[in-house]
Amino acid sequence: MSLPVIDRLVPLSDQTRMRFPPGFVWGVATSAFQIEGAAETDGKGPSIWDSFCRQPGAIADHSDGDIACDHYHRLDEDLDLIASLGVNAYRFSVSWLRVQPQGEGAWNEAGLAFYERLVDGLIARGIKPYLTLNHWGLPQALQDRGGWATRKTVQHFVDYALGMHRRLGNKLAAITTHNEPWVISHLGHETGHFAPGIADRAVAMQVSHHLLLSHGLALQALRAAGCRAQLGIVLNLAPVQPATESAADREQAWLEDGRLLRWYMDPLFRAVYPQDVLDHLGADAPRVEAGDMAAIAAHMDFLGINYCSRNVVSAGEPFDVHSSGLPITEMGWEVYPEGLTELLLRLDRDYPVPPIYVTENGGAFRDALVGGRVQDGERSDFIARHIAAVAAAMDQGVTMAGYMVWSLLDNFEWASGYAKRFGIVYVDYATQQRSLKDSARWYRRFLQQQRDRRAVRPPLVEGA
Ligand code: FCB
Repeated sequence: MSLPVIDRLVPLSDQTRMRFPPGFVWGVATSAFQIEGAAETDGKGPSIWDSFCRQPGAIADHSDGDIACDHYHRLDEDLDLIASLGVNAYRFSVSWLRVQPQGEGAWNEAGLAFYERLVDGLIARGIKPYLTLNHWGLPQALQDRGGWATRKTVQHFVDYALGMHRRLGNKLAAITTHNEPWVISHLGHETGHFAPGIADRAVAMQVSHHLLLSHGLALQALRAAGCRAQLGIVLNLAPVQPATESAADREQAWLEDGRLLRWYMDPLFRAVYPQDVLDHLGADAPRVEAGDMAAIAAHMDFLGINYCSRNVVSAGEPFDVHSSGLPITEMGWEVYPEGLTELLLRLDRDYPVPPIYVTENGGAFRDALVGGRVQDGERSDFIARHIAAVAAAMDQGVTMAGYMVWSLLDNFEWASGYAKRFGIVYVDYATQQRSLKDSARWYRRFLQQQRDRRAVRPPLVEGA
């Protein structure tokens, strides 16, 4: 049996030498719309992604989330699969419209019962539940009344957060309010490449403000309701680098850094929006009411970072990723683990950050199931090198709480449909059969080694 690439690239001794504290959280991540399917089952309402998938040309392979990985009907099998990996955490999201089909008012018992079963099933298997409230599936009913562009949605989100707390009590290890507000704001409302498909910068900026505000108000409300889960948000961040040292490229890179990173980190940790970005936006800057900024900066127990690659920015022709000589994933993203260390050090240096989790990290590669096996050594290598990048940041003093692979399963990759496979478990969509890829086997072995290392007591001091 040939070994996955990683075993050849990084000697086992180096992999196991990486030091992670005893409480370090190791997980896998998914999101509701990408895996659940059961689009019209048990009273679920339509989401903006259900509607978006029906717009001609919106999804590369014309697919939708109607069946996806059929996780809704295969919960127990999937929970066993997660447990078989040896992870101690699972990050998943709740489909708002499954539990509250209109996004306000009546609750749907079948939906609530599903997530209760999921959470209880994780706990029974010794796995910590990390719940995300908003991984992009806004109820279409709320979108019809303005969606995230209207301030009313902020209060609906807070009510939804409280409803989930009421049902799940203190069983959860952590609650994330929003996954990647930049994506919702920028791709959903400025370029229109993602649901709800709006292309209006002023709307996008107002949306980002309402997302941040609803995050802060939800944290306050959850704490007031006695919630003991760790509370935080998940941002997609990257080091933004100029393509050349020219003044124009450097200026452009700083602006992009402002839009991607500082636009979210500054309000969350300093209660202000970055002035250079406000100046740049001019009349498209969001309307902010008295008290909003203080609410946004509510104390967080953790910060989640989703990291895939760096952003190289040019003021002229777009940067050609093939020019760097770095490996490129199927998404056309450079494999650049050094960027994760760089990013973590920068966050730690510039902001009073709480413990950080890498809440998503992974890559799409050209996978083929041959004889029951997927030889995805590139993915194992990707994961191992990013775990090493986390270890490097910790060595330099950054407080890290955990690392989660994106993703447990191959799934619906948004506008790319099912063509891009991110899972460490292969899904045959025709049969819904799951097969561990080599990367899943590598991750399982790596986690076992981590446990074994901890079980070994330090040798007694000689002569003592
Ligand atoms: C992130 C999303 C996640 C997945 C990965 C590839 O932006 O949070 O749902 O699509 O990218």
